[in-house]
Amino acid sequence: MVLHHAAAALDWVMDKSLVLGYTRIGPALRRAWWPHDPTPGALVGRHVLVTGASGGLGLATARGLVRLGATVHLTGRDASRLDAARSVLLEQAPLADVVTHVADVSDLAGTAEFARDLAAGVPRLHAVVHNAGVMPRQRTTTREGHELALATHVLGPHVLTYGLREPLAGGRVVLVTSGGAYGQRLEVDDPEYTEAGRGDYSGVTAYARTKRMQLVLTELWARDLAPDGIRVHSMHPGWADTPGVTDSLPRFAAMTRPLLRDADSGADTAVWLAATSDAIGTGGLWHDRRRRPTHYLPVGVETPEEIEAFWRFVLEETGVPAGGAGRDLSPGT
Ligand SMILES: NC(=O)c1ccc[n+]([C@@H]2O[C@H](COP(=O)([O-])OP(=O)(O)OC[C@H]3O[C@@H](n4cnc5c(N)ncnc54)[C@H](OP(=O)(O)O)[C@@H]3O)[C@@H](O)[C@H]2O)c1
Repeated sequence: MVLHHAAAALDWVMDKSLVLGYTRIGPALRRAWWPHDPTPGALVGRHVLVTGASGGLGLATARGLVRLGATVHLTGRDASRLDAARSVLLEQAPLADVVTHVADVSDLAGTAEFARDLAAGVPRLHAVVHNAGVMPRQRTTTREGHELALATHVLGPHVLTYGLREPLAGGRVVLVTSGGAYGQRLEVDDPEYTEAGRGDYSGVTAYARTKRMQLVLTELWARDLAPDGIRVHSMHPGWADTPGVTDSLPRFAAMTRPLLRDADSGADTAVWLAATSDAIGTGGLWHDRRRRPTHYLPVGVETPEEIEAFWRFVLEETGVPAGGAGRDLSPGT
């Protein structure tokens, strides 16, 4: 018991220090006390979809799922990168069942169509890991007119999750978010970041704002999809050495490289959330297999009105209604 409390205290200090918790030091120490690994073969016969799986954390997540026996569906925007990722996985596990799909999650109409096709071919889906991510260099809009980070991290995942609601019944949804969310409030006045018209768009801010939105979305989805038996969690990977970090944050990557965790350690909690048989409820934010607060300080916490405005915005922009027609998700219900 004393050891348990000491581990929890040390884990808390590491989380708050960022460097101890987010880097390779995090899993190296926490492994000593974090929950046990999923049972070998836990995912045999189960299908799991991982978006943005042609490299970085998505590929590492796919590798972890393949190790547990899952049939893994990989998405990405580029067929040759997906083929290369599949080859890497098959080199490591020649008998693995790995299926690739070219699908751009920021394209809402295309994502709805992809979900329809997948649902027709895969009647039971154990889990979806929403991993695809982007940090735009300048304000970019999709062909449907949405700001790219918003479409990739929020609107597209909403379309995909609800498009797969039937095959996902009784299954799991994992959103890969970022510690960057801690630095942002829920943005409801200008979710499309149109203030860029005045020349002050920042891709880092757009990224972090939409990662905050993912935390709120996790709680909304968890409540809305509970009647379908679908459990929803988000996780953040810490700081992992991936092409995304090297390309989008080259100075950060250069400064921190010796401390960055590898992609498999970054992906560990996403794999664990998809596979664990532990009773972990729904609607949580996780990092290194432990539930974490969604705010470090009690300031800047989204109000019920802001959450409602955000939910209305997501439903209107995607045209995808909530699970129970008209189900009231206002906080407190
Ligand atoms: N690495 C970290 O330290 C870190 C920290 C916090 C959070 N994260 C989160 O972890 C996730 C993965 O990050 P990463 O570092 O592995 O990034 P990455 O190396 O850039 O990989 C991103 C993956 O997403 C795919 N992708 C991008 N846009 C897509 C779209 N519209 N539709 C489908 N696939 C798309 C990319 O493939 P194509 O370009 O071929 O489509 C690629 O496979 C992101 O959500 C990121 O926010 C990472």
